[in-house]
Amino acid sequence: MSQLPFPGPVSTDPNRPVRVAVVLGTRPEAVKLAPVVRALEAAPRFEPLVINTGQHREMLDPMLSRLRLTTRHNLDVMRDRQELSALTARLIEGLGEVLRQEEPDVVLVQGDTSSTLCGALAAFYERIPVAHVEAGLRSGVFDDPFPEELNRRLVSKLTRWHFAPTEQAGALLQAEGIPADNVFVTGNTVIDNLLWVRRRGVGRSAFRTGRRGVLVTLHRRENQGDRMRAMAATLLRLARRGDVEILLPMHRSPAVREVLEGALAHEPHITLTEPLDYFDFTASLADCEVVLTDSGGVQEEAPSLNKPVLVLRSTTERPEVVATGAARLVGTDPEHIHTEANNLLDDPALYQSMAEAPSPFGDGYAAQRIVTRLAEDCTAPLLHTDSHVPSLADW
Ligand code: UD1
Ligand code: UDP
Repeated sequence: MSQLPFPGPVSTDPNRPVRVAVVLGTRPEAVKLAPVVRALEAAPRFEPLVINTGQHREMLDPMLSRLRLTTRHNLDVMRDRQELSALTARLIEGLGEVLRQEEPDVVLVQGDTSSTLCGALAAFYERIPVAHVEAGLRSGVFDDPFPEELNRRLVSKLTRWHFAPTEQAGALLQAEGIPADNVFVTGNTVIDNLLWVRRRGVGRSAFRTGRRGVLVTLHRRENQGDRMRAMAATLLRLARRGDVEILLPMHRSPAVREVLEGALAHEPHITLTEPLDYFDFTASLADCEVVLTDSGGVQEEAPSLNKPVLVLRSTTERPEVVATGAARLVGTDPEHIHTEANNLLDDPALYQSMAEAPSPFGDGYAAQRIVTRLAEDCTAPLLHTDSHVPSLADW
């Protein structure tokens, strides 16, 4: 059996553009796919069709307009406290219908969410080749993070183009038997977007006082419940140092909000907010001193702005950021988190070494590399006539 679904060049009708269905549904997918959509729009012969699954609503919709993403479909699948199985059923059914209607040449998915998995699976059912952005991340523990680790392993089985953010991620895919010719190391598109926003100089920091800024985000399913309660208690202790302001933009998940609001509302030196607009969030990131997070995207963004990160998880699928010294994997034990946070705030040499560690996630040209590669494989009949494969120099 071939290791690869749909190997070889994609044959497209030379009289119409190559149609790439870009599937997204959550906040990080919008952030990380916006540069790819922009690059597809700018490339000759491509037509991106953005399919919003609607897995997120309030957290996604403002992001779409901020990032100038125009969607062709909204499947509106989000339900309050959605269960994974019912969410998956709604996604697969809705995506299958849209793919049959649109008949794209390629389906492009990103990362490891339920929308990602269902986008790839629905494409496979319709026999459409899949491109996977941010491929090859592995924690090595199949149910941590839950369910993302399994999602991304399954997506790799369905994928034709594996766009890996780092050499290490690319090597992991090849170690799983994916042919080297189908793995492309591009950098992470999250950096493309961050540099795009920072260059424009937009957004306002949400820190309110002149105290030392600690930016916190928490949302992972495996951290919900007692773990999150214990972490909230640690944040309370940290706030009582007296010299910091903790800014915590809360995820919309009720499982997160109940715990954080219950423990931290009305506490002096703690600013609990609704999810921040992306421009304001990145401005707050630039304005803070230290980041505590269980988010994937935030730990990728912070080193680009020279902000040390304490990762509030026990496993990581981004070991590069720990290896460069930009982040520490501090686990979920409240006492340990407290010690590590105080060390970072009180030890200038440690702080300096983490802040100066290089970002392992690329140079801001990941999206261009992705589109260039797709152009090489999808538009060959056109390219031989009146077009050319875009190279980095063209962007
Ligand atoms: C999802 C992804 C996770 C990603 C995260 C990014 C899965 C299984 N999980 O987790 O990988 O890191 O998004 O944020 O795909 N809600 C709202 N409004 C919103 C968004 C969510 O009310 O705009 C509430 C709903 O009650 C929803 C719940 O949050 O049921 C959980 O949302 P869901 O997408 O299932 O999981 P996340 O925890 O957001
Ligand atoms: N983000 C945002 N507003 C916030 C918190 C995060 O715009 O209040 C952005 C952040 O810059 C990053 C992305 O959301 O690009 C990360 O999303 P999230 O933490 O929800 O998901 P994960 O990356 O863990 O999958």
